Amino acid sequence: MIRAFARDDYDAVAEVWSAAGVEVVPRAELDLKLSRDPELFLVSLTDGEISGVILGTWDGRRGWIFRLGVHPAHRRRGIATALVRELEARFRALGCPRVNLLVLPHNESGLRFWQSLGYLPAPDVLCTRPL
Ligand SMILES: CC(C)(COP(=O)(O)OP(=O)(O)OC[C@H]1O[C@@H](n2cnc3c(N)ncnc32)[C@H](O)[C@@H]1OP(=O)(O)O)[C@@H](O)C(=O)NCCC(=O)NCCS
Repeated sequence: MIRAFARDDYDAVAEVWSAAGVEVVPRAELDLKLSRDPELFLVSLTDGEISGVILGTWDGRRGWIFRLGVHPAHRRRGIATALVRELEARFRALGCPRVNLLVLPHNESGLRFWQSLGYLPAPDVLCTRPL
């Protein structure tokens, strides 16, 4: 089952991110995100427990996917695929024509996962600066 994140999910979500080796988004940062497009932050439930997480954002032009993680105990059962497909459906409903995401270059299994869903590498390099 997939549904939007609820505030009480934070501890379980942080646990899944940690177990999956995904950087945990601090609660204050998530609060700001939830003030914009809360319906794009999704969790999967397996036997009533949170098993996977995906954080989508919509900037009015592109959809972006961040922090996808599935707990190691629940992998290779299609959970990440289901999370991505549900998020894509929500992006489509917003009129979003393209989705982007970032993967660390050494994350071979992550890259294989994304390619299996039709997400192909682009040559762009991420540039960033703290404010
Ligand atoms: C990548 C990740 C999200 C995949 O989750 P998952 O629920 O196991 O993925 P799915 O079961 O939906 O896999 C779908 C397909 O992706 C590919 N895939 C998934 N994991 C893979 C792996 N470790 N190695 C190679 N291919 C993989 C396969 O083609 C798989 O289909 P198959 O199981 O029929 O062979 C999960 O391994 C994870 O949390 N990894 C750590 C965090 C991470 O890398 N996040 C994504 C990068 S931003």
